[in-house]
Amino acid sequence: MNMQYIHLIKYKVNLYKIMQDNKVQIFDTTLRDGEQVPGCKLDTKQKLVIAERLDLLGVNVIEAGFPVSSPGDFNSVSEIAKIVKNATVCGLTRAVENDIKVAAEALKYAKYPRIHTGIGTSDSHIKFKFNSTREKVIERAVNAVSYSKSFVEDVEFYAEDAGRTDNVFLAKICEEVIKAGATVLNIPDTTGYCLPEEYGAKMKYLRENVKGIENVILSCHCHNDLGMATANSIAGVINGARQIECTINGIGERAGNTALEEVVMVLKQHPYLNLETSINTKLLYDTSIMVRESMGMPVQPNKAIVGANAFAHSSGIHQDGVIKNRETYEIMDPEDVGVTESAIVLTARSGRAALAYRAKKIGYELTKVQLDISYKAFLDTADKQKEVKDDDIHTIMKEVNKISKIEIA
Ligand code: KIV
Ligand code: ZN
Repeated sequence: MNMQYIHLIKYKVNLYKIMQDNKVQIFDTTLRDGEQVPGCKLDTKQKLVIAERLDLLGVNVIEAGFPVSSPGDFNSVSEIAKIVKNATVCGLTRAVENDIKVAAEALKYAKYPRIHTGIGTSDSHIKFKFNSTREKVIERAVNAVSYSKSFVEDVEFYAEDAGRTDNVFLAKICEEVIKAGATVLNIPDTTGYCLPEEYGAKMKYLRENVKGIENVILSCHCHNDLGMATANSIAGVINGARQIECTINGIGERAGNTALEEVVMVLKQHPYLNLETSINTKLLYDTSIMVRESMGMPVQPNKAIVGANAFAHSSGIHQDGVIKNRETYEIMDPEDVGVTESAIVLTARSGRAALAYRAKKIGYELTKVQLDISYKAFLDTADKQKEVKDDDIHTIMKEVNKISKIEIA
């Protein structure tokens, strides 16, 4: 049996498992769609460190770059292809022969190589980008997929701006590229325009109207221009897609891509959806820090899952609840995403329970009287500054000791 045939059989068995087990493949494009953002550029060494981490995290596909775009990117894809042990390594191309040839060359050492080729399919792209027609775009798409198949078994086709593409035409082009051998169909909401219902309905429409769709994986690739990338990707998998394309911290063009940590945790926290990923969620927080630091791209404090405030409680009412039982205000365990514990942040909105809790953590066991006196001093400090830190509590306790002559243990 030749190698290509063995690879084909393995691929089909894997596809069967994905559809049976309701496994959602996580396709990480931090190093391609994420890295193309101004200011996020990485060198090959930095990319290798992230690629290794993504492999450890358990992503199924790593989109390592766009090999034809520069010699540096070619080199990065090629080096990543050599070191990644478990994930499929993917290279992006346009529907252009030379792009595909160069990508195949860059991927030649990958254990599981994938070429990701495609073309714009919305009327706006066809008219303004290509000055072409729907028929000619289908022809280019089919040629690109067939040519890619001459190098690798696993070929993903993207219909750029599928979010704004007429569904009947989208179904037609999908059917043609499946005939040409595409193994994965990427349906990008390139401009982040779709509503979740609309994006989900698009996936459903393709599942119901494209011949051969049961033999391929449908993929969600959503941008966040209206803040709906996560919701759209989830709507996509609920309606039959089995791959989500995403980036760590949601970095990417303009308002970014779907955030990997968000979709993974949505699926984990809603087990009745019966959709699973292979991500080791305990590595999410550290991976977020690694990407944030190497790309120099800060994460907003209120960012879901990995923001500094994602597990921090600052209002008195919430703090009181969390101290009594974490589940009153937390829908996931911080340890599940690699955050050691929830934080009780002391501000002028905090109550006695929070002060007593924090003081105890740093060694002061307060009686009710001591707490009343300390709380007044605490509010004085809190009104003057944004946050009261442990050092401030030590100072408050010393002051209270002096004034009240109450020995605080
Ligand atoms: O957003 C998009 O359409 C893309 C494609 C190139 C896959 O990133
Ligand atoms: Zn994109």
